[in-house]
Amino acid sequence: MDEEHLHDDLRVFKDRNFFPLRLRSFFTVYLLLGLFFLLIITLFAVSLSRVFPCGPGSREWEYFNGKCYYFSLTRMSWYKAKSQCEEMHSQLAIIDSYAKQNFVMFRTRNERFWIGLTDENVEGEWEWIDGTDYKTTFTFWKEGEPNNSGNEDCAHVWISGKWNDVYCTYECFYICEKPLPN
Ligand code: BGC
Ligand code: CA
Repeated sequence: MDEEHLHDDLRVFKDRNFFPLRLRSFFTVYLLLGLFFLLIITLFAVSLSRVFPCGPGSREWEYFNGKCYYFSLTRMSWYKAKSQCEEMHSQLAIIDSYAKQNFVMFRTRNERFWIGLTDENVEGEWEWIDGTDYKTTFTFWKEGEPNNSGNEDCAHVWISGKWNDVYCTYECFYICEKPLPN
């Protein structure tokens, strides 16, 4: 084989090498399309998380001031309510500000809902279940409450959203709270 032939063969080989020009531009178009769809999906996900910060798949969790809240549709004892919240990776709600009280009040509308407050360890010494200091934190007891009438160790929101102590096996709705999902 002479040298000229060899050169020709090499050029043919190079032209066929990998992507011929037409394929190469197809590839670019598909790549750009792919990136474009990726961008659209990302933007969609970001906007969903703005509109539903507590997760698009969980309409029962409501957002308020950096946290997510669940208002139960069924009634049960304080203990059962506490473990229901835990099963949902949350805890009975802690009401530590008037803003939060206001949100809860608006949502509970005079219906009774358990909160994470109890004096079952030492009578008269109320404790928030997450360790929030009771003595220095916001309270919103109904006038004359807590009165430990009979033996009442668990707190719920009651008329006008004000708090009452009641016996822990009483069955009422409950409020869970959890941090924002990542
Ligand atoms: C009392 C509450 C008490 C409740 C028990 C009400 O009449 O005012 O203090 O917790 O009864 O059901
Ligand atoms: Ca009471």
